Amino acid sequence: MARPSVMFALAGLTLAIAPCAAYAFWRTGAVRGVRRGLRMLAGAKPTPPKANKLPQKVVFGKIEGEARGAAGDVLMHTATAEDPYFWLRDSERKDPAMLAHLEAENDYADQMLKPLKALKDQVFGEFLAHMKETDERVPYPHGGWYYYSRTVKGLAYDIYCRKKTLDGDEVILLDVNKLAEGKKFCDVAELHPSPSHTIMAYSVDFQGYETYDIYFKNPTTGELLDDVLHDTYDSFVWGADESTIYYWTFDEAHRPYKFWRHILGTPQSEDVNLFTEDDNTFYVGSGKTQNSRFIVVESSSTAPTSEAHYIDLKGVSGAEGHKSAPLVLFQERTRGIQFDLEQWGDQWWIVTNKDKAMNSKIMTCPLGNTTFEHWKDWQPYDPKTRIKAITPFKDHIAVSGRKGGYQQMWIIKPAEDTWYQIDWPEELHSITISTNEEFDTDVVRVTYSSMTTPRQTLDFNMTTQDQKLLKEQPVPHYNRTDYASERIYATAVDGTQIPMSLVYNSKIYPDGIHKVGRLPILLYGYGSYGISLDPDFDYRRLSYLDRGVVYVMAHIRGGEDEGREWYEEQGKFLTKKNTFSDFVSCAEYLVSEGYTNTESICINGRSAGGLLIGASLNLRPDLFKCVITAVPFVDVLNTMSDPSIPLTTGEWEEWGNPNIKEYHYYMKEYSPYDNVRATRYPAMFVTAGLWDSRVAYWEPAKWVAKLRDFKTDDNPIILKVDTAAGHFSASDRYRHMRERALETAFVLDQLSSTELLVPGPPLPDLPPEPKESSRYAIVNM
Ligand SMILES: *[C@@H]1O[C@H](CO)[C@@H](O)[C@H](O)[C@H]1NC(C)=O
Ligand SMILES: *[C@@H]1O[C@H](CO)[C@@H](O)[C@H](O)[C@H]1NC(C)=O
Ligand SMILES: *[C@@H]1O[C@H](CO)[C@@H](O)[C@H](O)[C@H]1NC(C)=O
Repeated sequence: MARPSVMFALAGLTLAIAPCAAYAFWRTGAVRGVRRGLRMLAGAKPTPPKANKLPQKVVFGKIEGEARGAAGDVLMHTATAEDPYFWLRDSERKDPAMLAHLEAENDYADQMLKPLKALKDQVFGEFLAHMKETDERVPYPHGGWYYYSRTVKGLAYDIYCRKKTLDGDEVILLDVNKLAEGKKFCDVAELHPSPSHTIMAYSVDFQGYETYDIYFKNPTTGELLDDVLHDTYDSFVWGADESTIYYWTFDEAHRPYKFWRHILGTPQSEDVNLFTEDDNTFYVGSGKTQNSRFIVVESSSTAPTSEAHYIDLKGVSGAEGHKSAPLVLFQERTRGIQFDLEQWGDQWWIVTNKDKAMNSKIMTCPLGNTTFEHWKDWQPYDPKTRIKAITPFKDHIAVSGRKGGYQQMWIIKPAEDTWYQIDWPEELHSITISTNEEFDTDVVRVTYSSMTTPRQTLDFNMTTQDQKLLKEQPVPHYNRTDYASERIYATAVDGTQIPMSLVYNSKIYPDGIHKVGRLPILLYGYGSYGISLDPDFDYRRLSYLDRGVVYVMAHIRGGEDEGREWYEEQGKFLTKKNTFSDFVSCAEYLVSEGYTNTESICINGRSAGGLLIGASLNLRPDLFKCVITAVPFVDVLNTMSDPSIPLTTGEWEEWGNPNIKEYHYYMKEYSPYDNVRATRYPAMFVTAGLWDSRVAYWEPAKWVAKLRDFKTDDNPIILKVDTAAGHFSASDRYRHMRERALETAFVLDQLSSTELLVPGPPLPDLPPEPKESSRYAIVNM
């Protein structure tokens, strides 16, 4: 199991990828008109807030009594740096001076963005026109039921349901709209039926900090059980029956580390702690093997290193049975060796990088003999094939991975020791394994999309290799033949070819986009944690494309887009700067090859992608017209030195630990906050979430304050802090879309691309603006 099997694919509204704690954790003749739009922001001149500067020394290196490094690390002697905006940091989020400053930022943002209201409303209307508001996910079979989620026009959240047969009566399991009543934020992370499908358990967070409570519901009566598990990690796993459930709690730095067994009907205080991950550089996760026989408990660091334990549920039943079912060590941690477990037949199936298999290979071992010496190659390692995860079924094993720069899938027939690769209709594509809860089947459900094909849910018959299209995400007023996507390559400073995927409206550019010279471009990047970008579909891009903007995705190093070495050897630790220079090379290529010029590129990235944006800006502030970045991780040097900040210790293996000399000085050369200088910067729109536990609000707040202090131009820099949200912005889908529409309006205005160049969709009546804006939460807290 690669990750806990998530029962319900959540609504897909959380746009981008985040520093995810472990498994859990954007011419020809037709170009006339592109520059027609008015620069609406040009007239707005309110005074930006100015943050106080207070003396504060930040200490790096050794501090007595603080765990500033992992075991064996040699810390540098104490070094100090001045951080005049340090005072903006308040872990409790209630310092009046800090809140007043954020409020001043929000007031300024409101005034600056006011002229964009009509455009924002227009874009929001386009989003709604391209979105089927009342819609339903394809029901998937699970234990005699069909489970699915659906949305209703006007309602902000999902409704989770099941039915006995595809045309049977609907049972509503959880209506998140009801759960969210009276709440400013509501995130249901997981919802799993018990093994006999008689109890539904769900984890919910009402704040955005990603601390959850787990509730239990009788799906027949709709009543809640007395059991509530407080302050838990989002994921949990049922035992062999409804008597028992397993879950995780956090340490002081919000790292899940204790694994607990809860017997239903007993108080949480009596729960038994089965495992504690004491090494603060390790993340944890748990889930069941696809055949439900084993619970696997994983610890892993991005070193990469794994350890796994398991509970064999065969023959286990009732509270007493679970109490005596032991947690057994599979294989202890060995630095540099990473693995994920599944089980098929009488063997464990292991996806691992063992024996220097950087892109991973598949190994097997007997159920009873699980240590390294018993592991055998299922087939020889192929360095050109990146194996990511396996999903076993009765007679087949589906394998997901990457080859040739794209996501791919293979099907193993274990009885014959053979496998084959599945072909997809478009070269630029995304393919992921969808929700597959049944083991005894010969079909695997997958999700396919491309930059022009909306998300398709397919059943692939592994015996006949037939594909059955169950549903394509309906996108009203969209005709894919009007759009084109392609892949191009920039040359990095070290000569490496860096792919870019792009999409544009081919009605606006009938002769293609090469040599147009001043294309408005939205360049998007991420490039960290080995997370790849894949050419996928997003109807919210249409508001850009139909105004002539070309959307470009940069497949830079730090992701594993071109294989694992793209990340491990060329995009982390002391090679991290490749990530930033690759992105700059992509933008430079677009200019030097005559696609565009430096007045026409907007760059976008969120979270660790915000670090990318911040670092690229310091490298080439003159290359970009405007910037849009959400929850940017920009205070890298300070955050990574302080183990009390969530995610820090676990990421010492990702960026390095700045309490150690070699990492300190390398990181100091790229950390965005530390490299702001007196120069011209582009127009910027920055967003933050007050309750964000992954990138604390103070990182963007300090960065913006420092940029305002240093920059030598009059370009606007706007910070908007959502005080009722965390890392993933608003949980309410309409609020989320309004925020996104505002960001889009900002970019369109900066790129002077506010006018539609092809007929837009007919606009619906807009739902009324919510009366209470989230920001007023500041004063009420
Ligand atoms: C485990 O290995 C030992 C010796 O290497 C062998 O005797 C034993 O039968 C094996 N057990 C299983 C369950 O394969
Ligand atoms: C897959 O194809 C085989 C062979 O035609 C058929 O027997 C089987 O029922 C198909 N599986 C499903 C789930 O439709
Ligand atoms: C999409 O556009 C093509 C080419 O303009 C046209 O032939 C086709 O009928 C359109 N499809 C729909 C569904 O409107």
